[in-house]
Amino acid sequence: MKARIVYASMTGNDADMAEILEEDLQDYGFEVETSEASFTDASDYLENDLCIFITYTYGEGKMTDDVADFYDQLKDLDLSGKYFAVMGSGDKMYADHFCENVFDFEKMFKEIGAKEITKAVTIENAPGDAAIAKIDNAAEEMSEKLNG
Ligand SMILES: Cc1cc2nc3c(=O)[nH]c(=O)nc-3n(C[C@H](O)[C@H](O)[C@H](O)COP(=O)(O)O)c2cc1C
Repeated sequence: MKARIVYASMTGNDADMAEILEEDLQDYGFEVETSEASFTDASDYLENDLCIFITYTYGEGKMTDDVADFYDQLKDLDLSGKYFAVMGSGDKMYADHFCENVFDFEKMFKEIGAKEITKAVTIENAPGDAAIAKIDNAAEEMSEKLNG
């Protein structure tokens, strides 16, 4: 099974999440490729079974340019028949805007026909032990659903 992880990260927290998930999925036998959103074309998802997007949220929910560009590319795709997962790091200090961009992408993936494989994983700031456990559990669910 092929998994594609795309992430956006300003200060490294989401990059760390991507690395943790990549290692988990490799341990479960997935063929995984990971790259940063600003260096990736969303159409890369088309060659994969599992499409993953991991993002920060800045600016009280408003997307920064790198995230918005990727979102606009995604809009034009048809991901019917594929699974997706979204994750991200935010800060609860932003209350109603906590991890808002993660949920924007969750909605978009559904709109373009992909099926959510596990519920959105949101964490606060840098991934500590509890956050790592959440990512590990999500990876396990991905493996159960796709590898049987
Ligand atoms: C200017 C600024 C605005 C932010 N706005 C939000 C926000 O609206 N919602 C949220 O959940 N977190 C917000 N955050 C927190 C970041 O999303 C959080 O620190 C995250 O871990 C950063 O991820 P990164 O290290 O991958 O860049 C903001 C942080 C900064 C510095």
